[in-house]
Amino acid sequence: RMHELLEKYPVGKVSYLTSSLMSPVYQVTASAPVNIACIKYWGKRDTTLILPTNSSLSVTLSQDNLRSTTTSRSSSSFEKTRLWLNGVEEVIKPGARLDRCLAELRRMRKENVEDKDPSVPKLSTWNLHIASYNNFPTAAGLASSASGFAALTASVAALYGLNAFPQHPSSSYSPPADASQLSLIARQGSGSACRSLFGGFVAWEMGKDSNGRDSLAIQVAPESHWPSLHALICVVNSGKKGTSSTAGMQETVLTSELLKSRIKDVVPSRMSSITQAILAKDFDSFAKITMQDSNQFHAVCLDTFPPIFYLNDVSRAIIAIITELNRVSVEATGHLVAAYTFDAGPNAVIYTESENIKTIIQLLLNYFPIDFAASPFNDSFQLFGVGHPSAA
Ligand code: DP6
Repeated sequence: RMHELLEKYPVGKVSYLTSSLMSPVYQVTASAPVNIACIKYWGKRDTTLILPTNSSLSVTLSQDNLRSTTTSRSSSSFEKTRLWLNGVEEVIKPGARLDRCLAELRRMRKENVEDKDPSVPKLSTWNLHIASYNNFPTAAGLASSASGFAALTASVAALYGLNAFPQHPSSSYSPPADASQLSLIARQGSGSACRSLFGGFVAWEMGKDSNGRDSLAIQVAPESHWPSLHALICVVNSGKKGTSSTAGMQETVLTSELLKSRIKDVVPSRMSSITQAILAKDFDSFAKITMQDSNQFHAVCLDTFPPIFYLNDVSRAIIAIITELNRVSVEATGHLVAAYTFDAGPNAVIYTESENIKTIIQLLLNYFPIDFAASPFNDSFQLFGVGHPSAA
């Protein structure tokens, strides 16, 4: 009977774990990578539904590193819903972000699957056991909420038969048509998470509705579109950041005048220009807009009262090095070679094309020599292609 049901409702990789007929356990594992925004999300117009004050656009990094992998299990025998992050059990606060995401997924399971076919197991009424791991390099110090909530949403959605993620990560991956619908849920876990449900180049459209039904992620171009584009992550500081994104962005909304003009006069045109640049694989425009938007994001942080500082002296030195490299390159060839961008912390992400990776790493090592004996190379630099989420 279980096998029949599973065949009828293929939901990614679902395993039937126990032999007890009274309490079968269903399980799905999914993984999602980190994404790095080129047009930054900073500010909410609704803090509960997580509706942003502006649209944003990011690149999903390749699977190799910096991803979250989440296994979700459902059984009528589980006494309560539990969550483990990197092996440590977390408290699930009623009404908080995770609880809201799970409530939405249960509602979708009930409406889209169980109400349509009363013979399927009522997973929406069963408790869940969820375990999530980040494979981040030990010293990455990079945000995990985007990949974490994306992997969690993808795995519970697949468990509930709400989408059809492929069984194995592969280059033939294409996002399920309803990943945008799932992005509505991941968004309520952490805004930037909605973009990690897609691979490649992803826009989060801010939407207009007060209920958030149109505030979702769409894929601008798949990861195969621009294979020569890479992201080099330079770990400047692996510690926890001072002001969290969630708290910082609301301070900005409340106090920054500059944010108002950014939202109204700047971001809408940048969204369309960078989309054009990506579609045309125009690195010069892509790089210029990316750097300008990072600069403006940190300018609105400075315009927040009291001000928020995420960049440090090393971050600013990296900006100076990349700026000088680009100046020399424009003089010689007319083209930019690299684009820096910084999120809510001092670590730099440098976008560049394959042929320039070596030059950039050599240049950075010149200024910031690494003691290879004390600090393995991998902890300080990480290189990524453009990637996609998957079921494992
Ligand atoms: C600077 O998505 O972490 O990385 O929605 O409150 O969870 P919450 O915030 P979060 O903010 C990310 C901010 C950013 C820019 C970006 O990724 O677009």
